[in-house]
Amino acid sequence: MSINFRFAIISDPHVAIPQTIRGAANRFHLVEVSIPALELVFDHLERQNIDFLLIPGDLTQDGEPENHQWLQQRLASLPFPAYVIPGNHDVPTLLSTENSIGFDDFSAYYCQFGYQNSQKHYYTCEVIPGVQLIALNSNQFNSQGKQLGCLDEEQIAWLEQLLPQVKDKLILVMIHHNVIEHLPGQSHHELGKRYMLDNASVLLKMLREAEAKLIFSGHLHVQDIAYQEGIYEITTGSLVSYPHPYRIIEVQANGLKNLEFKIESHRVNTLSGWENLAEFSRNWLGDRSYPFMMKLLTSHPLNLEIEEAEKLVPQLRYFWADMADGDAIFDFVDFPPSVRHYFQYFSAINEDGSPNLIDNHARLII
Ligand SMILES: [Fe+2]
Ligand SMILES: [Fe+2]
Repeated sequence: MSINFRFAIISDPHVAIPQTIRGAANRFHLVEVSIPALELVFDHLERQNIDFLLIPGDLTQDGEPENHQWLQQRLASLPFPAYVIPGNHDVPTLLSTENSIGFDDFSAYYCQFGYQNSQKHYYTCEVIPGVQLIALNSNQFNSQGKQLGCLDEEQIAWLEQLLPQVKDKLILVMIHHNVIEHLPGQSHHELGKRYMLDNASVLLKMLREAEAKLIFSGHLHVQDIAYQEGIYEITTGSLVSYPHPYRIIEVQANGLKNLEFKIESHRVNTLSGWENLAEFSRNWLGDRSYPFMMKLLTSHPLNLEIEEAEKLVPQLRYFWADMADGDAIFDFVDFPPSVRHYFQYFSAINEDGSPNLIDNHARLII
């Protein structure tokens, strides 16, 4: 069986129609550009002859019904199918509030975009012959109504049944939360672990047994491709954060062995009214990074004193923007050796220290 197709990924578009946009002082998401950026990308994709589009969650600013409504109407006018799943911002509370939809309302908005046959929060469908999309919901709530990033027992049981049935297909898994680490020590660090699926190891074991090798995620707002024991996770940065990226992936294969995935990344650098968007939004992140970088310096494993951290933090102004960009190489030569060494680990390098620049453009043989 020969499989040749092209698809695109836009992640975390955080759609916000103007009347829903709220305070900007500490907000990392530049939601002001959400709709013009999306329109520019749709315009590009309409000329790219793609077979389908994946959007792995955080479709809206904060789950506002007007924003879900806007997006589902816009997706309906695209000349290619789109498939979505919820992110934490799309279903911020279990029950609806004045400003946001409830968890159980989500699938009704997107019944044309994956949820045709499902009133659940997850689904599967054969997107083109021989290619099975498994779209998972990683948003749950505990008994106090607190949002969690994990798969529930019902979904795990559903997956256990499903995976053997689709083992002769190419499986693409889409999920909002990260399943493989994209930052060193991400599963253990208090700043990183909230971006990870709590029960990632359960999902990885099931996928490995089913020889499903590709996961597409979002949530972290970083361009990164991570690999762990036979599985690639391709996380795509947010369309409303520097560098405003999206991806186009071309797949060519004869049968299910040695599939070639050619991944290209594109970015929105300029928009009408935002001519210097790339520079503006890099600074937007830089302006908001200070508390986050202080926390990184003063918490485990660096545990620096506040005074020492305050001396180093100005050099880290663009650290998160560079991480979000993907393929970054870090070497803060003026830092004390242990701190310098710590930040070197965030670089796009192999275990032997050689550069491994696959986050934006890559050719993966699966
Ligand atoms: Fe997001
Ligand atoms: Fe998110």
